[in-house]
Amino acid sequence: MPVLNMEEVAKRLDGSNIAISVADASQNDMPLTYVNPAFCAATGYDAARFLGQNCRFLQADLENNDSRQIIRDALIGGASAQAVFRNRRADGTEFSNLLIIEPLKDRDNLTAYVVGAQFVIDRRTRVAAAVEHGDHVVREIDKMLELNDRLRSTSRQALARSVAATVRLWMDR
Ligand SMILES: Cc1cc2nc3c(=O)[nH]c(=O)nc-3n(C[C@H](O)[C@H](O)[C@H](O)COP(=O)(O)O)c2cc1C
Repeated sequence: MPVLNMEEVAKRLDGSNIAISVADASQNDMPLTYVNPAFCAATGYDAARFLGQNCRFLQADLENNDSRQIIRDALIGGASAQAVFRNRRADGTEFSNLLIIEPLKDRDNLTAYVVGAQFVIDRRTRVAAAVEHGDHVVREIDKMLELNDRLRSTSRQALARSVAATVRLWMDR
């Protein structure tokens, strides 16, 4: 299996303000091998809590059946995917977490690592978007937010792809 140079990954991604994680697909239950400080800040957990563990503990007692199915199918099929999870921070508060996963394949086209980009999308984000775009046109807001969400979702995916491309640079295959 290819080896990822974690030092290089950390050098490139520790400073990113996008929450990023990397899971090792060659190990049982896909434990995380890297999380960046932005991901720790978003969840309230130290890196040590994540490393060597599957990320699902963030779901705690919350129901996520549809999203889990989407991610499981993508992992099995070696595909990219996105799904919104209900997660809990270390302090117990709930948040919506838009997860985008990108597989990193080896020469035989088998998934070696999976890069995750996580985006917190809560009510505050929506309100901030409304304020940013002018909430005086109340009737237009919902339409605008919908469009805005669509645009954002496209750019989030592009972001996740470029993060994955960066990580791929440090995978020796
Ligand atoms: C790189 C990566 C990052 C992930 N990040 C999260 C996350 O932040 N929150 C979450 O609830 N699940 C996350 N997951 C999804 C879970 O680890 C797991 O794949 C999902 O719950 C489906 O599997 P299960 O039904 O066996 O739990 C991540 C998965 C991968 C591969």
